[in-house]
Amino acid sequence: MKIAMGNDHSAVELKNAIQAYVESKGYEVINFGTDSTESCDYPVYGEKVGRAVASGEADYGIAICGTGIGIGIAAGKVKGVRVCTCSEPYSARLSRMHNNTNVLTFGARVIGVEMAKMIVDEWLDNAYEGGRHQRRVDQLAEIESRG
Ligand code: RB5
Repeated sequence: MKIAMGNDHSAVELKNAIQAYVESKGYEVINFGTDSTESCDYPVYGEKVGRAVASGEADYGIAICGTGIGIGIAAGKVKGVRVCTCSEPYSARLSRMHNNTNVLTFGARVIGVEMAKMIVDEWLDNAYEGGRHQRRVDQLAEIESRG
């Protein structure tokens, strides 16, 4: 399983820690993020992660900026991407089970590394339930196709 990771300048340290963590869980990481702390623009990296997931180059995406919000908005602009931006594990878990999210984002200026690991665990270790949720996920795609 491959995970596309991306980040802006605010999240280099957290990206490195989370990359090492998901690799230790057996995932392969494709790093689309910056490795520099020089100021840069989060939409660039959110789009890269979104496109990698939408194209199938990666199975999932994890993107980090200061809040997780900007990079999540950017990734979510790519057709087929469903983003979960969260600061606690419960929402991460339910976003997989009910919303079939394929990109997770969080904020390096919002949560610490141990919380980020708990969020990642809940997100990666829980599967989409399908069933009654599929109708709603299909409706999300219909909204997207209406532009
Ligand atoms: C960068 O200063 C900051 O705006 C960015 O990392 C992010 O928080 C945007 O949503």
